[in-house]
Parts: sequence; structure tokens; C-alpha cells
Amino acid sequence: MAKKIIAYNRVEKPVIEHLQQNYDVRFFKNVDTKRDQDFLSHLSESEGIIGLELPVDADLLDNAPNLKIISNVSVGYNNLDLAEMTKRGIVGTNTPGVLTDTVADAVFGILVATARRIPELNQFVKNGEWQAEAIENEHFGSNVHHKTLGIIGMGRIGKAIAQRAHFGFDMNILYHTRSRKPDAEEAFNADYRTLDELLVASDFVCMITPLTPETEGLIGKREFQLMKDSAIFINGSRGKTVVEQELIDALHKGEIKAAGLDVFEQEPIEGDNPLLSMNNVVTTPHIGSSTHETELKMSELAAENLEAGLSGEKPANLVNPEAWTSRR
Ligand code: GLV
Ligand code: GLV
Repeated sequence: MAKKIIAYNRVEKPVIEHLQQNYDVRFFKNVDTKRDQDFLSHLSESEGIIGLELPVDADLLDNAPNLKIISNVSVGYNNLDLAEMTKRGIVGTNTPGVLTDTVADAVFGILVATARRIPELNQFVKNGEWQAEAIENEHFGSNVHHKTLGIIGMGRIGKAIAQRAHFGFDMNILYHTRSRKPDAEEAFNADYRTLDELLVASDFVCMITPLTPETEGLIGKREFQLMKDSAIFINGSRGKTVVEQELIDALHKGEIKAAGLDVFEQEPIEGDNPLLSMNNVVTTPHIGSSTHETELKMSELAAENLEAGLSGEKPANLVNPEAWTSRR
């Protein structure tokens, strides 16, 4: 009998069809993973899961006695409780590399859109307000070129953002990470700073660090107060790296000028969230990596990881490699 696998939320159709040739695939979308009986009964028999942002904790794993591998269709893996997975010999994988330039394009696009107020002015034109109102100082934006960009998290994506900023916009680049990145210092003239030094000196503060216990709530009231009043804050990482209520307060008080956000504490964001009624906030629905080309590549890479794991070959993108030797 074909091995059972679960595809969750976002796996591109051609990849599902490919997997169906060798596996018994069930697709689930946004189900209540604690209560949905159909999901739970498939989970109990499945050997693999491929998908986006399935919340994986001890409870879920307790219901999955046959599970061997969880293959994320994302580079982030904050949805996985790795300690619980490793304890049970279940491996996890992600999709680094294939989305790097795509996410950097999105983050840079959001940065420019926020600085030049493109979504707001787009609405102004489409609403017919341009005919009624002269363009004045109140419609002007801020320069991007030659400004100082502070990047928090200089991984692959951080470097791709720095590349665009340095070569495309002649920006000065500061960065903060756990360990220094001499290659980025060399290639993009990036200067390492402590977090506080970066916050004080940057015109744009860009979050692109993974969500981990160390980065959860990293940016809050104190950090917004350290930023320039003219600073523009960009989040392309995960909503929970920022204390969202304190971002809202900082915007209300004018402690920073604007924000461009692809990620939120809760996704989808609630309709009554004050961020949605602020003109100086640009939002996108966590689409950093979501182009047709890149979503397909991510699904393909996730399927390769899954198939390797299920056939006993070491997957290329293990996120808990320590679990491999004691795997189920
Ligand atoms: C997107 O946010 C990802 O983690 O791939
Ligand atoms: C993602 O690939 C990162 O390391 O930033």
C-alpha cells in the first residue's frame, strides 16, 4: 500500500500530482489541527507531512505515531517544536536558498513603497482626488537612495537585501546578527553594530531574522524610542519578532515615521487592528516568497526533502540534523 502523507495549506498543484504517483496524499487547508476528526485520523496514519505553517507541538506529534518527516514549504520553521520532534526521531526540513532573491525583492519593494507612499498615492489617484487637490508637501515621501539601512538578521535574505541597497540605491548599510558576516562587510560595505547602535543610526530598520526564542519580541517600546522620529520600520521576518501593540503606540506617538509590514502577530491580521487604518502603514499578506516561480520551486524542494526522508536518504535541508541518526 502507498505510504500516506498529508499536504497542508500550500503545495503547488504539479507537485501534489507528482507526489500522488507514489503516495496516498490527502490535502488539508487551515483546519483546526486539534479538533478536525478527518485530519486527526489521517495524521495517525501518515508517515510524512509537507506544507506551510502547520502548528506542530507535542499534542500533534502524540497523534502521529507513524510520522517520520515534516517538510516545510518555507524557509522559516518557527511552526515546528524541534525538541519534541527530535525526542521522537521525527526530522524536519525547510526550503532555504530558492526564495532568497524573491523575498529580498519583496522586502525592498515594500521599503520603497513605504518611503514613497506608493499604495496611499495610488489610492489618491484612483479615487479621483488628484483632479480636486493639488500635490503639496503633505503628499511627499522620503528618499531611499544614500540613506542608512539597518538590517537585523544578515542571513541569505539579509545579504540579498544589502546587495540591492548597496548596488541599486547607494545606501549605507549597518547590520546586526549573532555572528559577524565578513563576506557582507566586504561585498556591500556593511558595518556591524550592536542592536542599539543600529537602531539609533538607521533611516530604515529592516527585520529579516528568523523567529526564535531569542528574537521573539526583540523590537518593542524601548527599541522604537531609540529609532529616529523619521525612521521607517520594515518587517519581513515574522510578526512575533516585534511587540505589535508597541509598534502601534510608536506610530501613534510619532516615535517613528512609517512602517511596511509583510508579517503580523496574528495572520490573517484581524480587521479591527489599528495598523489597518493608518495611512503611514503599508501592509502585504505575508507574500514575501510568493511568486509563481518561487512557490513552485519551494514546493519542489520540499517534495524532494520529503521523498528523501521517506526513502531513508538524508534530506538536503534538515533543520534538526541531530534527529537523523535516531530517526524512526
Ligand atoms: C516565508 O515566510 C518563509 O519562511 O519561507
Ligand atoms: C534565509 O535563507 C536566510 O538565511 O535569511
